[in-house]
Amino acid sequence: MSSNDTQRPAPVATREFLENLKGEELVRWRTAEVPNRRSMAERSIDLPMPFGWFAMCYSDELAVGQVKPLRYFGRDLVAWRGEDGQARVLDAYCAHLGAHMGYGGRVNGNRLECPFHSWRYDGDGKVGDIPYAKIIPPQAKRGCVKGWPTAEANRFVWAWYHPEGIAPLWEVEPFPETSDPEWTDYERHEWNVYCPLQTIAENGVDVAHFRYIHGTASYPDWEVTMKGHCRSAQVNAKMDTPRGQVDGTISYGVVGPGQPWTRFTGICETLLVTGATPVDQDHVHIRFAFTQKKSSAEGSQGRVAKALIADICRQLDQDKVVWDRQRHMEKPLLCDGDGPIMAFRDFYQQFYPGKSLNPDVERTLARKGGGRG
Ligand code: FES
Ligand SMILES: [Fe+2]
Repeated sequence: MSSNDTQRPAPVATREFLENLKGEELVRWRTAEVPNRRSMAERSIDLPMPFGWFAMCYSDELAVGQVKPLRYFGRDLVAWRGEDGQARVLDAYCAHLGAHMGYGGRVNGNRLECPFHSWRYDGDGKVGDIPYAKIIPPQAKRGCVKGWPTAEANRFVWAWYHPEGIAPLWEVEPFPETSDPEWTDYERHEWNVYCPLQTIAENGVDVAHFRYIHGTASYPDWEVTMKGHCRSAQVNAKMDTPRGQVDGTISYGVVGPGQPWTRFTGICETLLVTGATPVDQDHVHIRFAFTQKKSSAEGSQGRVAKALIADICRQLDQDKVVWDRQRHMEKPLLCDGDGPIMAFRDFYQQFYPGKSLNPDVERTLARKGGGRG
């Protein structure tokens, strides 16, 4: 490989696959089922869903008095917003005769009322009222439907998932840009990706793939820090824009397994808030919510700002082609140019029940100087 070779954008490996997908068809492809999708067994997928805070919906998708059926964590859920403005999430099936409360359920004060016989649930799954009963059965009073702790931040509703019902171990991190009037409303995009969440997260430390799948001009310099339940990285990369190549800095991280964020500086101030929520062990719903500083998005730099968003979404399309079909390699065959993939996997173990890491351990791994990677 000549030094020249590292400066030229590489051909994108999945370009042919994506070339003919445009407009509406591309948007449909992003969330559609994968034809002939292989089973988890055939793909050696046996990773459990990690625990943590996960996005349920955008805040504005759940108005006061609204009820919404959801499907995450391998289960049916129901979300509602009470008259007090607070969002709540419960398992969907009523403990009485099993109605799915996301279909026809109504908000009564702050409670969710089942459509079938009007049993009324609090956010912790306790029945507070049965309008036709003199006595509420003690088990119903104590709580008979699983409730999921909720939070609201960054214009999303979040729920804490833990398969053993352990209470939240950290908080959702607020990002000041999302409530700053100098920053734009969200531009929203979404995908269904058919692989474990861990596989998607691993992409951030898989430094070699950027050149081949995404066609970046060089192997970027990187620095990854893992501390407690947070991981963050800084990449200095040359980015292609309508004005040619620009040096930019991308810093990104994840709070727990479910709250990734990315900040772009250098071209145009952009914050990408990501919701990455497991639907099942081999299925993740991804939401990209972009906010940009109005002075960059609406001024003479507007085209660059739009192109940046389009480029990030295209990168997810490119990864999706691989992720939807990828086999889980428990013991991957790695080479010296690969990023800190096994260190990442060690770190990620803390999000599976029964494993834990010392929250004070901090590891920083870095590579500078580009070159062959
Ligand atoms: S099934 Fe819900 S109240 Fe009867
Ligand atoms: Fe990628």
